[in-house]
Amino acid sequence: MTSLNGKPSSLIPDFDKLSIDERLRHVERFAGLSEEDMQQLRAPSNLDRELANHMIENMVATIAIPVGVATGLRIDGEEFLVPMATEESWIISAVGNAAQACHDTGGFTTSASGSCMIAQVQLLGLTNPHSARIAILEKRNEIAAECAACDPTLTRFGGGFHDLEVRILGEGADAMVVVHLIIDCRDAMGANTVNTMAERIAPKLQAWTGGRPALRILSNLADRRLVRARATWIPEALGGEAVRDAILEAYRFAEVDPYRAVTNNKGIMNCVSAVVLATGNDTRAVEAAAHGYAAASGRIRSLTKWEVAPDGALAGSIELPMPVGLVGGAVKIHPTARALVAILGVKSAEHLGRIIAAIGLAANFAALKALSTHGIQKDFMAHHARNFAIGAGATGDEIDLVARSLVERRSISTAAAEQVLAEVRKSR
Ligand code: MEV
Repeated sequence: MTSLNGKPSSLIPDFDKLSIDERLRHVERFAGLSEEDMQQLRAPSNLDRELANHMIENMVATIAIPVGVATGLRIDGEEFLVPMATEESWIISAVGNAAQACHDTGGFTTSASGSCMIAQVQLLGLTNPHSARIAILEKRNEIAAECAACDPTLTRFGGGFHDLEVRILGEGADAMVVVHLIIDCRDAMGANTVNTMAERIAPKLQAWTGGRPALRILSNLADRRLVRARATWIPEALGGEAVRDAILEAYRFAEVDPYRAVTNNKGIMNCVSAVVLATGNDTRAVEAAAHGYAAASGRIRSLTKWEVAPDGALAGSIELPMPVGLVGGAVKIHPTARALVAILGVKSAEHLGRIIAAIGLAANFAALKALSTHGIQKDFMAHHARNFAIGAGATGDEIDLVARSLVERRSISTAAAEQVLAEVRKSR
């Protein structure tokens, strides 16, 4: 059956049971793909197709994202090269420059609050939520034992049940009791573990209180798993006190204006998510947690803080939730993610998270410095110019020639790139 737009039906029976190539053929017919498109989708990558097929449903192809390495990171006295997977040009060199500017004056100092995640169980239909709350708190030991039985391995590694909270939200007939199981997930991100625990505890909560369990799911506001980093940049490394003060003004803008704060934090997440992705972790979980945490005061603010140290240096700090793991999920099975974790040489999820905090701080420094001095377009465009050159068809040494000419002309567009490329070719 064809649809109004002339395309075949998107209902494809047993699509998930087909081979990857059969699925691709359906997609080819559906979308009218060219042979060039098909070749691209079939092209091998460093993620084996069969492994990819096991990782998600209805898999048809893989997409490669460039991985770069940020240099110059001195974190807690140790040296690091940090892999970043991103399609955004300029950010890796920007992070490296920011890190190098504080490298010889101490680099980054990091810490973490722990590795606990929260699982929520929502209980409805209770006329006596306050009594129910107390009744649940009385069962702390039983709840701890149930959680331990869910994941004995986690308990053996020193994790598992950590704390219990019971909240009452709403009033009267709308009141709900929300139980928080606070679980130390150690080196796992922990979503599967805490979801299993929430589902296992829910019927017990019903038996103890008469409340009807509704949602049983982790909270992505991972505020029991904070990572922190701080660093100072002396005025000489910044280009002077005027630059320091300009960075402070830029920061104050984000503190008072949500429109700016979201952009400020997007710049931080450019680099945070790049490391999260490179290490096979869940970018959406880290992003949701970061943005939620930034708005925890009721208004979104900068994830970083900037001030002047007594010696006149620019002092930056960052605190954000970091639900990342080193065991379980894609990080365990994706061979490239494993190799990139090996570049970092970290042995715990907490250590990975602390390095990511340092990267986030460096990212914000780089963006604020560029924005408050020469403006971002200079940095952006120098890198984007290469993409425009490639988009216009430049290859080999043409790419740099065209990109340089676009930057010099301060005219960066597809049309300009095509014109410059034509000129380059004519002159040869
Ligand atoms: C662009 O990807 C990120 C920035 O907009 C961040 C910022 O404005 O702070 C440059």
